[in-house]
Amino acid sequence: MGIQRPKGTQDIIPGSVEKWHYLEEQIHAICSEYGYKEIRTPIFEATELFQRGVGETTDIVNKEMYTFLDKGERSITLRPEGTASVCRAYSENKLYALQQPVKMYYLGPMFRYENTQAGRFRQFHQFGAEVLGGEDPMVDAEIICLIWELLRRLGLKGLEVQINSVGCPKCRAEHRTRLQEFLHEKKAGLCADCQNRFSKNPMRILDCKNKTCQTLTENAPTTLDTLCEDCSTHFEKVKSYLEIADIRYRINPKMVRGLDYYQKTAFEISAEGIGAQSAICGGGRYDGLVAEIGGPPTPGIGFAMGLERILSVMEKQNIQIDTDPVSPIILAALGDHARKEAFKLMSDFRQAGLPVIMDLLGRGLKNQLKYADREHARYVLIIGDDELAKKVAVVRDMRLGDQQEIAIENIKTFLIENNKISGKEL
Ligand code: HAM
Repeated sequence: MGIQRPKGTQDIIPGSVEKWHYLEEQIHAICSEYGYKEIRTPIFEATELFQRGVGETTDIVNKEMYTFLDKGERSITLRPEGTASVCRAYSENKLYALQQPVKMYYLGPMFRYENTQAGRFRQFHQFGAEVLGGEDPMVDAEIICLIWELLRRLGLKGLEVQINSVGCPKCRAEHRTRLQEFLHEKKAGLCADCQNRFSKNPMRILDCKNKTCQTLTENAPTTLDTLCEDCSTHFEKVKSYLEIADIRYRINPKMVRGLDYYQKTAFEISAEGIGAQSAICGGGRYDGLVAEIGGPPTPGIGFAMGLERILSVMEKQNIQIDTDPVSPIILAALGDHARKEAFKLMSDFRQAGLPVIMDLLGRGLKNQLKYADREHARYVLIIGDDELAKKVAVVRDMRLGDQQEIAIENIKTFLIENNKISGKEL
């Protein structure tokens, strides 16, 4: 066995990449309809961006980052997520000087050194959107509506939207004290990670996946119990906008998300059929993040969804993707002279935008016809010495099974006409 791809990565090969194209097209289309513009940020960033942005107490920063020193001794990290980069780009490019809010989206690979399992990769792809400079709860609702509409268009079933409010630094301080009081006696029973979280970030104990921790926190105070008036009003308004938009949601007071930047609204969307890794999308508000990484105080909210997970749900739910293959025209040529003529015709046809390919391996006629069959060709143009002498080609209609001789000089017009008639069928 030769060199293999690194653990937790995938090759997206012809035959599957068409599904990615389809998904990406749907994403570009909906973002454009909702007024979101694409942003592309570097795949690696200064490590400090994620330490300060995502947070020192998170699993991502503690355990999962691909961090290395470059040749200039700078600490560099392959991005584990997109939000911190978008906030950095917003402030570095002075996007705060534009009309607010600035609505952006991105698509691309993210890197986390995770324990790999179904649905959990080390290189995975996210579609994310971020709105910067808008604090109105309507923005929170719009973001959720965008995801909902995308998933509806893709045909996903069995979706659940969970929402929560994790409060702001003001009300979270009170929650922290109350939760620590509640857990004080129980601390010894918590898992090692949660013992660590107890002083650093106790709120995260609420959504620990460990069964014992879950039992110990059963009646623990949640952030909803200590919301200040501002956070509480915000949460009520988000809920009412979701109701107006007819989006059903479940309030989950224990869902606090695994990144440190969240304030107020937090949400996750899960889907039936992909087992443990059922979260296909997560997001929330992060009003302190831009300032945290050195920009002007700016409210922000966004989400990201895992594209591998979306595709996996679509497959499990038997959702067919119309990958719309192009049926090419195949030029089958016999002999050196005819091959040269065919090559010339091919470039002429290509300039006219016709989908045309020819055998590149010098196969015999029989095998060229087989090749055409496997490529689902609509027309095969056969050119040998006899045809060349008569300045014609045999044009075989693979669907109808008939064939005719057409003068070489008229073939392009014939194909263009038929292309028009049969539209994308050609
Ligand atoms: P996250 O919850 O860490 O949030 O990731 C969002 C989504 O990315 C998850 O729901 C999942 O579908 C996918 N995902 C995460 N890790 C993996 C993995 N190892 N393998 C496959 N898929 C994965 C964020 O990344 C935030 N930046 C979201 C956000 C944007 N919040 C505000 N704005």
